[in-house]
Order: sequence, then structure tokens, then C-alpha cells
Amino acid sequence: MSLENRPSATSHPSDRATVEIVERAATAEIADAVDQPGKPRQAPAVALDGDAAVTARGVGKQFGDKDVVSEVTFDIPRGSIFGVIGPSGSGKTTAMRMMLGVIRPTSGEMRVLGREPHKFRRRDREGMGYLPQLFALFPELSVLENLNFAASVYGMNWFKRGRRVRTALDFVELWDARKRTASELSGGMQRRLGLAATLIHSPEIIFLDEPTAGIDPVLRAKFWERFRELRDEGRTLIVTTQYVTEAEYCDAIVVLKEGRLVANGTPDEVRRKAMGGELVRVVGPELGRRALGVIRDISTVRGIRRLPDGSLEVIVDDAGSGVPELIEALRVAGVEVDEIGEQRPTFDDVFVRLMEDETARAEGAPTAIDKAEGGKLGSLDAPAA
Ligand SMILES: Nc1ncnc2c1ncn2[C@@H]1O[C@H](COP(=O)(O)OP(=O)(O)O)[C@@H](O)[C@H]1O
Ligand SMILES: [Mg+2]
Repeated sequence: MSLENRPSATSHPSDRATVEIVERAATAEIADAVDQPGKPRQAPAVALDGDAAVTARGVGKQFGDKDVVSEVTFDIPRGSIFGVIGPSGSGKTTAMRMMLGVIRPTSGEMRVLGREPHKFRRRDREGMGYLPQLFALFPELSVLENLNFAASVYGMNWFKRGRRVRTALDFVELWDARKRTASELSGGMQRRLGLAATLIHSPEIIFLDEPTAGIDPVLRAKFWERFRELRDEGRTLIVTTQYVTEAEYCDAIVVLKEGRLVANGTPDEVRRKAMGGELVRVVGPELGRRALGVIRDISTVRGIRRLPDGSLEVIVDDAGSGVPELIEALRVAGVEVDEIGEQRPTFDDVFVRLMEDETARAEGAPTAIDKAEGGKLGSLDAPAA
């Protein structure tokens, strides 16, 4: 989707404003928020599950008789960037709305900052920021006025608001554009303004629903830089995306397909799980049956695949020890080798493998992971030595 095609604040202003206000109301409990002198503060929620910002245990959501999210279990540590990755319709927004308490799970247990989302108190919500997928601005208002509105939603007083507005606009590099009306801004600038509005009350947990969708790669990179800065300040970010390569930027991820969790862990763990181990590529002039036999006899080798160029892709438990083991075994056997090194599959490859495996699993067929775990034969496509 190009910048121009993305739904803009100018397309359906009234609809979009309604969406925004409804969503904001859910997170902020309008006008009842931050600086109200004289009102007793409620004690912050106690984390029941260690230091996790969010825990989900077997969480499911049905709409009618359709399982939109099924049996999803994960933990989100505080102070981390957590990616919810999956194609359109995989349940990302639904999962996020459950964490926000906008909708209630139909099964399982969920805690955010130690509390069930439908029992959030004002104090809990004050600590949260939410950038909905379809964030709306008031097109006829200036950047500054839009942000002041966002601040007023959180009940900030005039003094605090001024400071925070400046900080938030500096953060997204929009201070110089503060007097322009929102409708004059490019799609990317509107998205930055949306981020500023989400951060205006300095939330501890930040929910961003496809914040980088449809924006150019330079701005996407800049957004991720900003997310890391927020994380380094100790905040927790929960970010959904359809761009699988963005998995790299997260501390931990879940991958969803049709509402089911197909993988979770750190990006490296997910990569290893998808591939059945770590990959080492072996290039050389004599990688025939004998070489295959030698490699297969190494106890930490889980699988071997011949690539179209004749080289071998060897799946090992750990490339750090696997590479020297391979070098040594082939040297002892007198097999000439040009190159041996770890091969890091791209997240595109990892994602394709995860999706294929999930389809195979749903159909009851053995997956690449099962094959790799079940022995060394499954992924061999060369004749046995
Ligand atoms: N309120 C709802 N009522 C019925 N179906 C819904 C509702 N919200 C979402 N869905 C369905 O749930 C599925 C997942 O939607 P969603 O969570 O928006 O996915 P994603 O954000 O990954 O694109 C889709 O098939 C969508 O049509
Ligand atoms: Mg969505």
C-alpha cells in the first residue's frame, strides 16, 4: 500500500474521529484521568505473574462460532519490545483488544500489569497508550491542536500538557510542523502525529497496532529506532505487524496464523525452531556420498539438504560448535571444502517455513521440524552413502 492509498485522516473524518474517540475512551476513560488533585490515588495493580507486563494462558476469542483467537499462551516481560506477527486476519488486533480490555476473552486467562483487563482501574489505564490500526486525527485542526486534544483526553492540566506536547512533538520530529493542519500532512507525518498522541501521557505499556503499515522503509526504520528508545527507557511495547522482517527488531515475538500461535520466543529461537536447528552451508568440489556419510555421522547434525548449486545445507543444534565439528570431520576424512559457515535464514524464509509447517500440522502430515527432530534421514535428498 502506498502512502497515498493508506486511509488518511481526510477520507472519512467523522467516521474516523468516532473510531478514535471510542478506542481512546476504552484506554483512557475520558476526562477522568491524570492530574486530579484531592482524589485519592488507587494503588497500582500488583503483578501476580512475576515481572511480566502481560501474561496470556490459553486465551481464546470466539465471534459467533468462529474461533478468531485460539488457545494462545505467552508472556511479555516488562521493558521489552514484543512483536505480534501474522498476516491479515490472523487475530492480531483481536489479541491486542483483549489485552486492552476492549473485548473479553471467551476462554483462558489474561493479565496485564497483574490485573484482568476487564477489571482495569483508572490508574492501570493511565499507564497505557494505544495506537489503533485506524488512528484518526482531526483534519481541520493543527498538529498542535490535535495533540492538545489528545492530552485533554487524558485529563492533563495546562502546564503539564504544554511540556508533554513539546516533548512528544520533538520525539516524532514534528515540532517545526506544529502549526500545519493535519490534512496538509503527508501520510507519514500523520502517522508520526498518531504516535505522538499515543505517547502524550508517557505511558508505561504502549500498544501499537500496525504502526508501520504502508509507510516508506526509511520512516519504518526510524519508527523502530524510536521504539527501541522507548524500550530503553523501561517501557513495554507491544507491536503488531505484517512485515515479517520486523521480527528482527523485537526482543520476543509470537507468530499467529488464523488465530493460532505457531511460534513464540526470541527471534533467534523462532528461527531455530522453524528451521529445526541452525544452518551451516558447506561448499566444495567433492560433496558426494562420502562427504554426506561423514557429515551424517556427526552426532549433533540433525539434517542435510542439497541446495540447487550443489552445496550442502546442514542443520545442526548449534552453529557455534557445529562449524568447527564439520570442518574437523571433513578434514580428517580428506574431503576438500571451499567454504563452511553459518547461514542465517532471512525472516521471510523462516515465516514461509512456519506457515507451511502449520498447514502440514493442521493436516496431520509430518512437518520439517518433526522430520529434522526425528532423525537425519527426513531432510536428506541425496543418495545414501
Ligand atoms: N467484532 C468482530 N466480529 C466478528 N468477527 C471479527 C470481529 N473482529 C474481528 N473479526 C474477525 O476475526 C478475524 C481476525 O481479525 P483481526 O483480529 O482484525 O486480525 P488482524 O488484526 O490480524 O488482521 C478476521 O477474520 C475478522 O474478520
Ligand atoms: Mg489488525
